[in-house]
Amino acid sequence: MHFLSSGSPSGLSALSLFLLSDLLGTTAGAAIQPRAVPAPYVAASYYPAPHGGWADDWADAYEKALKLVSQMTLAEKTNITGGTGFFMGPCVGNTGSADRLGFPQLCLQDGPLGVRTTDNVTAFPAGITTGATFDKKLMYERGVALGQEFKGKGVNMYLGPSVGPLGRKPRAGRNWEGFGSDPVLQAFAGAETVRGVQDQGCIAVLKHLIGNEQEIQRMFNVGQQGISANIDDRAMHELYLWPFAEGVRAGTAVVMTSYNAVNGSASSQNAYSINGLLKEELGFQGPVMTDWLAHMSGVASALAGLDMSMPGDTQIPVLPGTAYFMYEMTRAALNGSVPMDRINDMATRVVAAWYKLGQDKDYPRPNFSSNTRARTGLLYPAAVFSPSGVVNQYVNVQADHKIIAKQVAQEAITLLKNNGSLLPISTSAPIKVFGTDAQANPDGINKCTDKSCNKGTLGMGWGSGSADYPYMDDPISSLKRKAGNVEFWNTDSFPKNLPDATADDVALVFISSDSGENSYEVEGNHGDRDKSGLKAWHNGDELVQKAAEKYSNVVVVVHTVGPIVMEPWINHPSVKAVVFAHLPGQEAGDSLTEVLFGEVSPSGHLPYTLPVSESDYPESVGIVPNGLGQPQDTFSEGIYIDYRYFQKNGVKPQYAFGHGLSYASFAYSDVRVQAVTPLTTVPPARPAKSGDPIAAMNNTIPPASEALRPEGFKDIFRYRYSFLAENDAKNAYADGAAGKKYPSLPPGYSTTQKEAGQTPAGGPSGGNPALWDVAYVVSLTVTNNGTAHAGKASTQLYVQFPATDNAKYDTPVLQLRDFAKTAALAPGESEAVELTIRRKDVSVWDAELQNWVVPNPEGRFKFWIGDASDSFGAVCYSDSTACETGVPGPL
Ligand code: BGC
Repeated sequence: MHFLSSGSPSGLSALSLFLLSDLLGTTAGAAIQPRAVPAPYVAASYYPAPHGGWADDWADAYEKALKLVSQMTLAEKTNITGGTGFFMGPCVGNTGSADRLGFPQLCLQDGPLGVRTTDNVTAFPAGITTGATFDKKLMYERGVALGQEFKGKGVNMYLGPSVGPLGRKPRAGRNWEGFGSDPVLQAFAGAETVRGVQDQGCIAVLKHLIGNEQEIQRMFNVGQQGISANIDDRAMHELYLWPFAEGVRAGTAVVMTSYNAVNGSASSQNAYSINGLLKEELGFQGPVMTDWLAHMSGVASALAGLDMSMPGDTQIPVLPGTAYFMYEMTRAALNGSVPMDRINDMATRVVAAWYKLGQDKDYPRPNFSSNTRARTGLLYPAAVFSPSGVVNQYVNVQADHKIIAKQVAQEAITLLKNNGSLLPISTSAPIKVFGTDAQANPDGINKCTDKSCNKGTLGMGWGSGSADYPYMDDPISSLKRKAGNVEFWNTDSFPKNLPDATADDVALVFISSDSGENSYEVEGNHGDRDKSGLKAWHNGDELVQKAAEKYSNVVVVVHTVGPIVMEPWINHPSVKAVVFAHLPGQEAGDSLTEVLFGEVSPSGHLPYTLPVSESDYPESVGIVPNGLGQPQDTFSEGIYIDYRYFQKNGVKPQYAFGHGLSYASFAYSDVRVQAVTPLTTVPPARPAKSGDPIAAMNNTIPPASEALRPEGFKDIFRYRYSFLAENDAKNAYADGAAGKKYPSLPPGYSTTQKEAGQTPAGGPSGGNPALWDVAYVVSLTVTNNGTAHAGKASTQLYVQFPATDNAKYDTPVLQLRDFAKTAALAPGESEAVELTIRRKDVSVWDAELQNWVVPNPEGRFKFWIGDASDSFGAVCYSDSTACETGVPGPL
């Protein structure tokens, strides 16, 4: 068999290919073929991988990168596009280097809310909490603080933000790492995080491209294929790709693929999503890496546009020491299986990302180990014989980041209900606190690996998106600090024999709901909330019900990863107030109690819809169980997820997307809309590509000598290197010279770069720049017209498209398009607010035209302005540019 010979053109290791082909019934070439997914979900063939180097915002970085890469040997080029192996370095991912030319190993580390598996860092509020602030400035500032901490630890690449999953499935395990179930909220928060992190010089890795909407069966393994997210082209563009487009536009230097397949083709080797959507349409210029152990093929994935393998192993980690890239990529280049322009493009993308962030100038080296907390330890734990050394320097990178962490936690606090203005309560009230969620885990705040237990205050979900708490400011400590009369029952079973309640008693009941990554099972939940569903954990419903039977003033505080069903108690007359504190990270205490006691008004808003019952959702967003063959997850609800679905189908939610009360009250005045850029049905033509510097490189196959170890080089067992043994190099080169080709090139394979005109929606760094033209600006004055409390107002703008008979352009009733938050306004105080509607915001994706279309540029677009998707204070009309207040919303 060709792939077992040492001159194999396959670019795959024999063992892994054996396992894959035997157990999955596939070869590297066949693996990129769409599988038996239902029509019309297609992973269209898209070749070749678009070259980088044609976007202005990357021009300087490419100029430098091209110079450096041109001096590299083949083995140096392939060394920097692969990981050195799982547990083969200090970080969760470590690339090879090109030391001779001063290009270092790069350190890649999780995760979205803090530097994972290390000490002396801040455990920031999770993404979902950040989304609930509806505050772009805070989103940015959290990113700044994260970027500083990752850089301080010597991390080159921050493995975040996560903008996929989008939160299509309420039970999905990792929604909380992202920012909410709406593409625009997700996109702004992701983009601001990218900016914040990268403004500190740390590279952001936008993840996971794409469709990672459930955890169960997310991965391909030797026994079963990963789930296929079957997404139609319109939903792909209008929902799932949208946050990636904004993140690429914000300058993210790297993108990570997902574990699942998309339309039948595994994401790490999906030519449609990597080559077609990301690199050609969104004009992404940086490297694309796999998720961990999601790499499935050598040549096939490189041709499909993958640039970096992480952590460098095949799907069987560590033990065999094998890789799909590294030495196999050197071989695949020499034997002509992967064209040299692809190799040069891969290496240049990696180096350009490094230069773009200025990491060539004094960027710190990793000073921690994600493998151990001891000061000294193995440098390469996965090697059989590893040298040891100092691996942890315990550098404290927290600075004053607890301030921004607390602010995010606080401004996310979402007051859903406040009957009779029970909140704020007085610090002298008799307060009875129930629920283990009120107090930090008594076994230790970092007791469970990657937070794979739900014990004590839930500050984050579990998995690679977690970080260690330096401390946990838990609610009970804060309550006791602030109030004089607090009693706490640290139990989730309502205590018996309590003294009689008095009319003044206020019961605070803490409940939670957790989820995480499929790598752990927690209380029967496999990442997704497959067991608990949307019910509060630990019998939370009963705890609330019993408290409500006893006390007449009950405040429910919820720490949760996502929606929960509150039906069993929400309408109980004693349950007067409900507060969602989301996942606050380390600052769970004062951030909450300052709101409960009225030092500040709540200003968070729901980043998803809360249903009355789980059956309110379409069936298609349920968790697809494990099964024989490839589980098919067909996104048949199309563009109708979350509030888009509820509104279209007239389903009344318990609380609507965007909902959140304040102690203050706000009024709108001076509402105006101004037309800025006149609209046409399709956007103006995209710009041409500014050149193709990769094509201008030396793209001939180099001599076999470029693949060899430098003299005297000593290997570490199982470490992944890009060097070939002399015979392998010679044989591979001979195969190439003899014109032997990779035996299973994908259908539609081509080596001719596409012209710009072939992708009308495409363009540099995000797509056609005209999509960002400002079409309308809405301005208004927001006034705190209350008398007692200062507060921050969240202003949300939803677009309603003109009615149409053309089913092709059927649109959701309302779609969030922009939002802004005021400063804290004292009673009587006002602030001017501006909201922007861009061309893309009034466009739909036309799958036939493969372009964005404004269905009716002269028609009446309505811009609804309010504080929730069901609560509006004003509306403006695009055709007359008139605005009105006091008009009820469209529903
Ligand atoms: C997760 C990624 C993470 C990576 C590295 C994977 O399991 O899906 O989000 O960055 O591990 O830890």
